Amino acid sequence: MNIAENMEDVIELQIGEPSAHTPMYIREAAVKAMDEGFTHYTSNAGLVSVREAISRKMKREFDVNVPINRIIVTAGAVSALNISLLSLVESGEEVLIPDPGYPNYESLIRIQGSVPVFYPTKQENDFLPTVSDIESVITPATKAIIVNSPSNPTGAVFSEKKWKDILDLAKKHELYIISDEIYDGIIYEGSHISPLAVNPAMEDQIISIFGFSKVYAMTGWRLAYAIVPEKLFSLMGKLQEPITTCASSISQKAGEAALNGPQKFVDEMREVYRQSRDVACELLALYNFNYVKPKGAFYIPIDISTTKLNAKEFTLQLLHSEKVMVGSCDTFGPSGSNIIRICFAGDVEELKEGIKRMGQFYQKLINKHD
Ligand SMILES: Cc1ncc(COP(=O)(O)O)c(C=O)c1O
Repeated sequence: MNIAENMEDVIELQIGEPSAHTPMYIREAAVKAMDEGFTHYTSNAGLVSVREAISRKMKREFDVNVPINRIIVTAGAVSALNISLLSLVESGEEVLIPDPGYPNYESLIRIQGSVPVFYPTKQENDFLPTVSDIESVITPATKAIIVNSPSNPTGAVFSEKKWKDILDLAKKHELYIISDEIYDGIIYEGSHISPLAVNPAMEDQIISIFGFSKVYAMTGWRLAYAIVPEKLFSLMGKLQEPITTCASSISQKAGEAALNGPQKFVDEMREVYRQSRDVACELLALYNFNYVKPKGAFYIPIDISTTKLNAKEFTLQLLHSEKVMVGSCDTFGPSGSNIIRICFAGDVEELKEGIKRMGQFYQKLINKHD
């Protein structure tokens, strides 16, 4: 992004957020909240009315009963991940994370003095981890597994069977599951399955994290929530105090309106993303890219190893020669060094033009090696 700052006509496919603005009814709720005096600290766990709206959402969408004393509202999913890890993991203990996976997992674990251990999610398995992929990296020091469905960057989506297998594994080894479900409303085939719905009896071992950033186009509001085991609720609330104290009161009221209001925006955006995904995949196939069609979220991972460039080199050369920005997945884990990521949550014409330029660039590179 720094390099592109001084360049003109750059197409940005690297961004990890919707280009749409937050829907008006949510923005209006924030203005109203300010006018009504919601300009103060809230309790560490968040406003009761927001947690009640979350509890209703969990029942409505997943048929899961979650009392408000298991719900903590946070300043973004990053904050929810932070307090989850702080509450569960001691320094030196290991946390399993997907490769490739959202880079902040590794960063947060390292910052806390714990040890990130990658488990593979392979392209030949549609980027879904198998039980043996995960079990092979479990040691006596393992404390928790972070799981992300739908996944950034792969778009992989867990089936109920997949969840059952992973939950059985967690039970067998007495591990916590930290389930990052921030893309829960952005699924193109089937619907989102939360581990809390698959095995409610394991609620003491599961932290499920949901957000507003992606589903309601609210990245700048810094708002998310965690459904936590009852025994961790008090500790996780206390951990918020020295970190963010609470999520913004104004954002919380906006989030309440998002959950209580019509879900038309979510449904419409899902269809817009679906169309963009299909257009993008058709074009990628035309240029013979090696990719997997995502089932959820709004990213497509592309393996560029045939170019003989690594992801970072490919990304930089593409920017300089074609003025297209894509994400290099080298920060997403060891397997990411050959993978680039494009986001299809922006303007579809830009997306088409970007893939066209990238396709021509790619063809030149592979023809060079033929
Ligand atoms: C998988 C995943 N988890 C968490 C986050 C962070 O979300 P938030 O904006 O709520 O902090 C992101 C953002 O890109 C993400 O892709």
